[in-house]
Amino acid sequence: MAFLDLRQYLDVLESAGELHRIKSRVNWDSEIGAIAEEAIRRRAGALLFENIQDYQNTHGKKLLINTHESPKRMAMALGLPPDTPIMEIIKTCKQREKQLMKPRVVASGPCKEVIHMEGDVNLLEVPAPKLHSKDGGRYLQTYGGVVTKDPESDWTNVGIYRGMVHDATSMGFLWVPTQHWGIHGRKYKAMGKPMPMAVTIGAGALAAPTYYSYLPAGVCEYDLMGAFAQEPIELVRCETVDLLVPASSEIVLEGEMSLDPATFRKEGPFGEYPGYYTSVWAEPRPVFKVKCITHRKDPILQCQTPGMYPLEPIPHLTLISSAQVWNRLEAAGIEGITGVYIEPAQPAVIYISIDSRYYGHSRQVASALWGLGLNYSGKYVFITDSDVDITSAARVMAAVANRTQASRDLVIFPGTFGGPLDPSMDPEIKRRTGGLGSWDRVLIDATWPMDWEPREEWGGLRHPPACQAEPELAEKIRERWESYGI
Ligand SMILES: Cc1cc2nc3c(=O)[nH]c(=O)nc-3n(C[C@H](O)[C@H](O)[C@H](O)COP(=O)(O)O)c2cc1C
Repeated sequence: MAFLDLRQYLDVLESAGELHRIKSRVNWDSEIGAIAEEAIRRRAGALLFENIQDYQNTHGKKLLINTHESPKRMAMALGLPPDTPIMEIIKTCKQREKQLMKPRVVASGPCKEVIHMEGDVNLLEVPAPKLHSKDGGRYLQTYGGVVTKDPESDWTNVGIYRGMVHDATSMGFLWVPTQHWGIHGRKYKAMGKPMPMAVTIGAGALAAPTYYSYLPAGVCEYDLMGAFAQEPIELVRCETVDLLVPASSEIVLEGEMSLDPATFRKEGPFGEYPGYYTSVWAEPRPVFKVKCITHRKDPILQCQTPGMYPLEPIPHLTLISSAQVWNRLEAAGIEGITGVYIEPAQPAVIYISIDSRYYGHSRQVASALWGLGLNYSGKYVFITDSDVDITSAARVMAAVANRTQASRDLVIFPGTFGGPLDPSMDPEIKRRTGGLGSWDRVLIDATWPMDWEPREEWGGLRHPPACQAEPELAEKIRERWESYGI
């Protein structure tokens, strides 16, 4: 069973010891963010703060964080046994993604329990945290879905894009034109109209993983959430904009955002996914004017620090995007892929294992991957043979050390987009590329060379044989292990 209602999921996490309710008084100003970081270091589980400074008599009193930063909780969100191995979770997502399921529109739902129309809207009633001390403001939106619609078709997109509170009715957003809402926004800009927009926060265990995922343009994340949950999700109409949001959302913000630079206000800085502030100054960015807020009674604000690298892994949302990249590569006609694993600690790095079938196979995989135009991902692509466990960075590095020569196996593909928040980017280049930055993408081909011929001294293999015990002998030893008295 997957959980389309956040509160049900929290009950299950709590009974499995994977959720802690924090009853001590904590401050929204940097303290919650620092506690969340320490909890990740300690692998402590998800945290629900119930006693937040200044938020005793407000509409919103609770804040949830660290919902998905372990493979175990990702497995539980998908309704799988908590100890499901990482590659099995990826394979489940790969299968389920193929059965997209249209949502059902219903008349009302929990997110309509309380409605604040224009004049009664106050974003400061929700305990938005300042997650890191150098952040430029309080980030109410870090883990909800931003809903927008293509003005030329039926395509609704839902993506996680950060939003900082400017005042009671407006928020600043990091809008990247190559993201899917970037496509929508460019069209509204050309039409000279503001873009209608909603933000849905806390719509169940699969919401954020789905909104983060790598669906192709034109496909709606709600269909994917249904596929992962294996049942259609229920949507309700917004009060003031022609958009649909999950009925179970904890909080929904409705309004519009202008892409006219004359309306921009300074947003940021924000501690970003690589674990750095890419720029330590605020920049003029689009403003979301909030016209209506609806929420459940006693709503839970779900948040997330996007990254702590080089310290610790970020949420294991990359298990889903790994499955999607795998499906996209197969859809491009590439055979022989046996695993795809996007590094949770740093999604710029992707590991792929293949059964090498022909000369140039791994280069075909890398060029198809780069052709997918992934933002924030695929800067470094490591391709290994399928005997390597690619969920272990140490094993991938051993394959790199043992199977590559740089002049032969390292390929650089310069001048691509993808890394607007990459701290290695010269700020001037970022400015000159319209905020996108310029990435050198790199393939490290750690498969055995396909142009080596089989050799007798290698036992007929095309590469030196491994020196560990033969699998049959190793199995026999395991069976007899007790008898050795070790
Ligand atoms: C906590 C968190 C914050 C994020 N903030 C942003 C952001 O501000 N801007 C952005 O372009 N992507 C952001 N992302 C990454 C996007 O969610 C991700 O690239 C997603 O695939 C975009 O969806 P789309 O393909 O529908 O555009 C964030 C991800 C997470 C987990």
